[in-house]
Amino acid sequence: MFTRKCLGIGLVMSASVAYAADSPNLGTPVTPADIAAWDISILPDGRGLPAGSGTAAQGAPIYAQKCAACHGENGKGGTASALLPRGPVTSINGAERTIGNFWPVSTTLFDYIRRAMPWQQPKTLTNDEVYALTAYLLVLNKVIGESDVMNAETLPKVRMPNRDGFIVRFPGKM
Ligand code: HEC
Repeated sequence: MFTRKCLGIGLVMSASVAYAADSPNLGTPVTPADIAAWDISILPDGRGLPAGSGTAAQGAPIYAQKCAACHGENGKGGTASALLPRGPVTSINGAERTIGNFWPVSTTLFDYIRRAMPWQQPKTLTNDEVYALTAYLLVLNKVIGESDVMNAETLPKVRMPNRDGFIVRFPGKM
């Protein structure tokens, strides 16, 4: 019995090797450009931030056109959450936690907007638009000055108000 089973498995394996060689070629090789489109994570220290730049003045019209329908005028909230604090975090209610009173790292904002927003059309914004929206939201949250330019150099240097509100599990990594 045992021997027969082993033989069976052996036959199946050699058969699949033969089929692989004759496969219908459904897969295509992944090119570096394909991978780059998915490889968009930005680390807290800013590694991975692309070229480009933007200011709040450039972000305001983009926000009005592509974000306000859900997040409300000037980030005050609508069908989707507010993007600026209504006050300090006092409970576990997620709606209280916003960019200005909760998010510890500025670069997350760029990463999040670029990969996830607008909700119904993620990954459609240019890098300049994402920098501009990031600047706009940081100004609304009173984290940067109105004319500050956000780019790969300046954004990682922005210190978020709640930067020290988290227990750092692995010191030196944020
Ligand atoms: C169709 C509705 C819709 C549009 C348009 C939209 N968002 Fe969102 N957004 C959401 C939803 C839903 C969430 C996740 C749940 C929540 O926070 O309400 C979210 C979450 C966010 C968050 C995280 C909020 C937090 O503190 O957790 C940010 C930042 C954000 N959106 C920015 C933007 C920007 C910038 C735009 C415009 C480019 C945009 N959104 C357009 C629906 C939308």
